[in-house]
Amino acid sequence: MKVLGIETSCDETGVAIYDPDRGLMAHRLHSQVALHRKFGGVVPELASRDHIRKLLPLVDECMDEAGIGPEELGGIAYTRGPGLVGALLVGASTAAGLAYSWRVPLLGVHHMEGHLLVPLMDEPAPDFPFVALLVSGGHTQLVEVGGVGRYRLLGETLDDAAGEAFDKTAKLLGLPYPGGPELARLAEKGRPGRFRFPRPMIKKPGLDFSFSGLKTAVLTAVEKLRAEGGEPGEQLRADIARGFEDAVVETLSVKCHRALRKTGISRLVVAGGVSANKNLRATLDKMTADTGAQAFYPRPAFCTDNGAMIAFAGFLRLSAGESDAELRRPRPRWPLEELSPPGGAADAA
Ligand code: KG4
Ligand code: ZN
Repeated sequence: MKVLGIETSCDETGVAIYDPDRGLMAHRLHSQVALHRKFGGVVPELASRDHIRKLLPLVDECMDEAGIGPEELGGIAYTRGPGLVGALLVGASTAAGLAYSWRVPLLGVHHMEGHLLVPLMDEPAPDFPFVALLVSGGHTQLVEVGGVGRYRLLGETLDDAAGEAFDKTAKLLGLPYPGGPELARLAEKGRPGRFRFPRPMIKKPGLDFSFSGLKTAVLTAVEKLRAEGGEPGEQLRADIARGFEDAVVETLSVKCHRALRKTGISRLVVAGGVSANKNLRATLDKMTADTGAQAFYPRPAFCTDNGAMIAFAGFLRLSAGESDAELRRPRPRWPLEELSPPGGAADAA
C-alpha cells in the first residue's frame, strides 16, 4: 500500500510517499526559515500562505519522482494536529480535496505520533515496548509506547519545551531563528564547565521537566557579563551556549535513565527536532550503553518536521483499515494519550 503523507503543522511543508516494499519512494521538504527569519520566529499567517503556495507543487513532484498515478495510492495521510491552526487547515483541506477527487482513503495523523514512529522506518527498528523521549519545539515528553496508538504519558515539561528553551536562549545570545541548531553549532566551540547552569528538577522524584528557569539563569549570566565588561565576545557566548546545552542534555539524560528504570524497558527512542542534537545523542548513547539499554534515533533528516513521518504513521494506520469517513476538524492541541491502536475507536472530538 502506497501512502502519500502531507505535513504542514508549522514552518515546513513536507510531502512524501511511503511503500512498505519499496520504502520511501519520494520525499520533498520546503523550509520557511528564510521567510520567517527577519521576524525572529514563525509568523502563523505567513506560514499558512506559504503552505498554500508550496504544497500542491511538492505533491506533483513527489508523484513524478515515485512514478505513480493517483490510482496506485492506498491512502493520503495529513497532519491533523497539534500545530498552528491555519497551517493545519491548509494541509487538511488539500489532503481532503485530493482524497475526494482521487477517490482514495483519507486519514488525519497526530504529528507527535509521526515523530515517535519514524525511527521504525529504518533498520535496526526498535521492538515494542519502548520509552520515547519526544523533544521538539512544542513538546518535551516521556512516553511509554506499548505499540502503535498505545501511549502512556510518563512525564512532560511543566513550562517551556526543550526546543523552545534552545530557541529562546539562542535569541538571548543574539543568534538568528531557528535558534536550536545555531546554538548547538556555537556550543561546539564552547569550553565545557566554564559556565554551570542548574539541572532543573533532577533532584525531585518523577519524570517531569522544567526549562524556563534555565533560560533565566542564562539571562542572568549574560547580564552579569555585560555589567562587568560589555557585550560578551564570541568565545564567552560559545561557553554559555555549551553550559546551557550541557544542562539541558544532562537533565534529559537523567530523566530518560529514570524512565527506563521505572518501566523496566531497555529501549529508548528519541525523536523530534532536538533529537538532531549531537551532544544529546552522544550522552544518551553513553547512558544507555552503561545501563545495558539501547537508544534509537530517526535519521538526521527526519528529526525535524517532514512528510515521511506522516506518510509512515499514516501507512501503519491505513494498512490496518483505519480511515476518516469525512474531513475532521484540525486539533491545534491534541494530547497523544487520546490516540487508540489502529482501527480502534477514533477520539470523540
Ligand atoms: O520537531 P520540530 O521540527 O518541530 C516541532 O514539532 O516543534 O522541532 C523543532 C525544534 C526547534 O525548537 C529547534 O530549535 C530544535 O527542534 N532543534 C534543535 C536542533 N535542531 C532542531 N535543538 C537543538 N539542537 C539541534 N541540533
Ligand atoms: Zn515536529
